[in-house]
Amino acid sequence: MSKQTITVIKGDGIGPSIVEAAIEVLAKAGCDFDYEYVDAGLTALEKTGELLPQATLDAIARNKITLKGPLTTPVGEGFTSINVTLRKQFSLYANVRPVISFKGTKARYENIDIITIRENTEGMYSGHRQLLSEDGLVAEASSIITREGAERIAVFAFETARRENRKKVTIVHKANILKSTSGLFLKTAREVAARYPDIEAQEMIVDNTCMQLVMNPQQFDVIVTTNLFGDILSDLCAGLVGGLGMAPGANIGKDCAIFEAVHGSAPDIAGKNLANPSSVILASIQMLEYLQMQDKAEKIRAALADVIASGDRTTRDLGGSFGTTDFTAAVLERL
Ligand SMILES: NC(=O)c1ccc[n+]([C@@H]2O[C@H](COP(=O)([O-])OP(=O)(O)OC[C@H]3O[C@@H](n4cnc5c(N)ncnc54)[C@H](O)[C@@H]3O)[C@@H](O)[C@H]2O)c1
Repeated sequence: MSKQTITVIKGDGIGPSIVEAAIEVLAKAGCDFDYEYVDAGLTALEKTGELLPQATLDAIARNKITLKGPLTTPVGEGFTSINVTLRKQFSLYANVRPVISFKGTKARYENIDIITIRENTEGMYSGHRQLLSEDGLVAEASSIITREGAERIAVFAFETARRENRKKVTIVHKANILKSTSGLFLKTAREVAARYPDIEAQEMIVDNTCMQLVMNPQQFDVIVTTNLFGDILSDLCAGLVGGLGMAPGANIGKDCAIFEAVHGSAPDIAGKNLANPSSVILASIQMLEYLQMQDKAEKIRAALADVIASGDRTTRDLGGSFGTTDFTAAVLERL
């Protein structure tokens, strides 16, 4: 079998340091990949004058699997979000964001194990029809939900639950107010749920979900929701297990996938050796699972868990005193 080539986008801000850490970890765990490095975001803009060069799109399409650091989209300069563009261009309709408690983190809760499955291409977040009146006094945006889009994400969520022996899928919506868009999403997800009698389907309004996640997060198993709600809820979930440094995400389409951290380029800590590389290491674990390399995924997860459990050998956000490089070295040593 030929070697798998992974497209790598190191990204902006803390991106390069945490992506390089993840690649070192993959190598140490014995993963024999080829890597094709390409640019996007501010790094690409500076080098090529484009935020998302064609060569990058070609590499993503060619290799099918991409590991990506966070990207900075300049605000208010007429640029469309690169992430939104990538998700739409490659039809990466499912955004899978797991959060799991690791022993030793300074988190509010223990025993959290929640997967948020977010529709990734439709809804308010997709930036459809963003208009501002000429006098700058009235702004307008539109949100489109399709039955097809709602059905495929609901099927994805219930299939994930079944494959991973999970018991419950919570459908999160705001159909009481957003009667057309959220209403169609809920109605479609309900119909899909009826095809999975082995899995409990629960419905919950998004504002209540926020409160429930803070008060009693252990009740959640798999959450499926629309794009914008998923964006917000998944950061909330990251906060339950120690912060954004512990939150990976996979963008999955029919024949292409991009693995990344949930967080952004963290300009406040960029260049200071403070970033927690766990987010991209955990994204690499998701990538290995997607490639059905479970043994390597488990090996890396165990090493990471061991180092985090040690308490002090972690980055500051987890309560430790190590920088990105020393934390990574500890994981490599454990491997
Ligand atoms: N997937 C992506 O590429 C992505 C996602 C979100 C935001 N962004 C972009 O990132 C930029 C910065 O956004 P922001 O500041 O709102 O959010 P952010 O996620 O970059 O940072 C939020 C907070 O979390 C902390 N943090 C994030 N990752 C961390 C890590 N690995 N270790 C330790 N602490 C970490 C940061 O220091 C900051 O205090 C913006 O340009 C935004 O558009 C990109």
